[in-house]
Amino acid sequence: MVCCRRRVQWWACWPCSKRMAPSRCGSLSSWHRFSHHFHACSTQPRLPQVTARCCAALCHHRHHHRRRPALHVGIDKRSVIMSFKPRHGPASAALQQQTAASSTITAHYDAEQHQQKTKTTPAPTTLERPPATRLSRRLEQLRPILRPTPHVPLIMEGMNLFAKLEFVNPVGSIKDRSAYWILKRAAERGEINEETTIVESSSGNFATALATFTHLVGLRFIPVIDPNIAASYESFLRNICTSVAKVDERDDTGGFLKTRLEMVKQLCATIPNSYWTNQYANEDAVEAHYLLTAGEICDSFDSLDYVFIAVSTAGTIAGVSRRLKEHFPNIKVIGVDSEGSIIFGGAPRKRHIPGLGSSIIPPLLSQALIDDVVVVPESETAAACQELLTTQGLFVGGSSGTAYAAVKRYAPKMVGRKRPTVLFLCADRGTPYLDTVYDSNWTTRLE
Ligand SMILES: Cc1ncc(COP(=O)(O)O)c(C=O)c1O
Repeated sequence: MVCCRRRVQWWACWPCSKRMAPSRCGSLSSWHRFSHHFHACSTQPRLPQVTARCCAALCHHRHHHRRRPALHVGIDKRSVIMSFKPRHGPASAALQQQTAASSTITAHYDAEQHQQKTKTTPAPTTLERPPATRLSRRLEQLRPILRPTPHVPLIMEGMNLFAKLEFVNPVGSIKDRSAYWILKRAAERGEINEETTIVESSSGNFATALATFTHLVGLRFIPVIDPNIAASYESFLRNICTSVAKVDERDDTGGFLKTRLEMVKQLCATIPNSYWTNQYANEDAVEAHYLLTAGEICDSFDSLDYVFIAVSTAGTIAGVSRRLKEHFPNIKVIGVDSEGSIIFGGAPRKRHIPGLGSSIIPPLLSQALIDDVVVVPESETAAACQELLTTQGLFVGGSSGTAYAAVKRYAPKMVGRKRPTVLFLCADRGTPYLDTVYDSNWTTRLE
């Protein structure tokens, strides 16, 4: 095996043949750079994303770092046998044919003699599929608890408005889908086992979902949280997890995200067999929303003109937008963000409402197909939450109120001959926000 200090082979973009040299062992940041490039130029971004050589470098990197391989790796003394699993999603007819015969594409990588072998190695024939582990079987058994969530009609002048009630998910938020799916996929690929410690930065919903699912399958989980977390979430996490890491220093944007990520890095460096689920860049989160959240929407609507989605890691909007654009080609996807978040280029500012917004541009954003963006002040979010409760009977969290406020702001732009059908996602319930957006003393402090 080559070691981390030795430079591995380049990555090659399939559609345009551009090559990019990974810095030291294909670090995650250079992988992201490559990944961004690939997604930008690829017309089929969810097909197997790399050529065999690219796979080889990626295989080495991911094996070495035990992180998120889309590849299954088997090792003998001198070589790495890997199989690359095409992911779900739209496939060209040619590739569908190519992959129809087998669900995996395999390649052979000899790290020592890669240069020569790439010229001479015959086409690989081995199909590798890691055996199902106890962990992956246990996770599969949990699959039925993720039931479809309802779409309820609301009263709104000039449109047929629907809310998708994601708080009906078993642990209470839209993040149940990505948390479950990330663990399931990681276990299927052999990246985590019963001894793994899961580490993640989350200010609430993702942490509670991960805490529940890891608890159910007997994994250790350390959430990294910050002072913006709702008190009820924090006590939930402290009850269910053996340890919780709380940061209290703001980063240079006034938020806590960068500080939390630093803490995640430190924990992963010191805890053996630790695994960072990395919700900010994990493509399994996109797949969860592509298959589950958006799948349900496609099954429930004959036509849909607008969908409003609050953004933080962009996993939801990436998965949902891709699937909905395939199913409803004329749909407009509207990204919703809070003032003070920098996701869509706004100036950074202190924010108070957790769930949406970010102090970094999330890597998954490049996979989203967004037509327009609405940025909402936090005071408007609070007013929208209260309006949803008192006029529509929906007791929802901050990002749902923000999405509703965005629908109202955007309504004058929805011009057309027919009355539009509009959907917005209600990512979580109002209970954790009782002391904040539902407290009039607290909301008067918002600018
Ligand atoms: C309440 C709430 N709304 C919206 C979002 C945004 O979802 P995503 O991170 O997929 O962009 C989150 C994410 O944590 C959330 O907790």
